[in-house]
Amino acid sequence: MRGRVFTCAERPDLWRRSVEEITGVWPEYNVHGDVLNEYWGRLDEELAGFQFVLHDEEADVPLAQGHTVPCAWDGSVDGLPAGIDGLVEDSFRLLEGGGKPTALAALAIEIAPAHQGGGLGRTMVEAMRDLAARHGLTELIAPLRPTWKERYPLTPIDRYAAWVRKDGLPFDPWIRLHVRLGADVLAAEPRSLRITGTPAEWEEWTGLAFPESGTYVFPHGLASLEVDLDAGRAEYWEPNVWVRHRVS
Ligand SMILES: CC(C)(COP(=O)(O)OP(=O)(O)OC[C@H]1O[C@@H](n2cnc3c(N)ncnc32)[C@H](O)[C@@H]1OP(=O)(O)O)[C@@H](O)C(=O)NCCC(=O)NCCS
Repeated sequence: MRGRVFTCAERPDLWRRSVEEITGVWPEYNVHGDVLNEYWGRLDEELAGFQFVLHDEEADVPLAQGHTVPCAWDGSVDGLPAGIDGLVEDSFRLLEGGGKPTALAALAIEIAPAHQGGGLGRTMVEAMRDLAARHGLTELIAPLRPTWKERYPLTPIDRYAAWVRKDGLPFDPWIRLHVRLGADVLAAEPRSLRITGTPAEWEEWTGLAFPESGTYVFPHGLASLEVDLDAGRAEYWEPNVWVRHRVS
């Protein structure tokens, strides 16, 4: 395996370096989640044992970050959290109430752009499964952000998630990687991550102009954006696809 995994609790110094050095992973609009941003800053303070860095020891370079949260999940599709927003809310509620987690949930894998496309995706998913096992959790669930969905922003996520190649594997490379590692695709969630802002903010985030109210597709958007100039508001819901890994 390339790189060694350290949690933020084990090596806060390496974690801090990775926060500073791994940049440019997300399109700008994607880092303005209404709910997710409320909790993001608390992850490495309150759940430090669940955030980790993949560090190349030889080159002394942080390669990737993994963000996870423990959660209570009953194992059913109906019992899945309400998208990634619902997941962080549920997880922190569980933490604050002293409840017992039953599963580990992935929030994000962020591979440094210079190291993407080289197979580290698999290493990071395996590291998440190991982390679940270390905490005695037998399932890892993940609301995936499918890599190629941005090429098909108008296709409903449940249709997109069902697309397969001739060999029967998922069409989307990121979903496919998880399935190759043994994951089951559980459900598509059209409203997973809510990002609202003023039309001016969205113009800044996307580099587009929105001269009138309406529905827009935009660069790297997985779905469309609703712009309401009268209300001074633009709203986007990022879709995700839930998968589950059984951890032995
Ligand atoms: C998505 C991500 C985690 C994948 O990890 P990776 O190391 O780049 O990908 P891998 O090399 O492990 O390849 C995984 C699959 O994706 C394909 N792939 C990798 N990079 C790709 C790219 N830029 N475009 C299209 N397909 C790509 C690979 O071919 C492979 O599929 P296949 O072997 O079945 O053909 C990584 O690119 C990343 O951090 N992206 C930005 C953040 C993100 O989207 N995170 C995931 C959502 S939480």
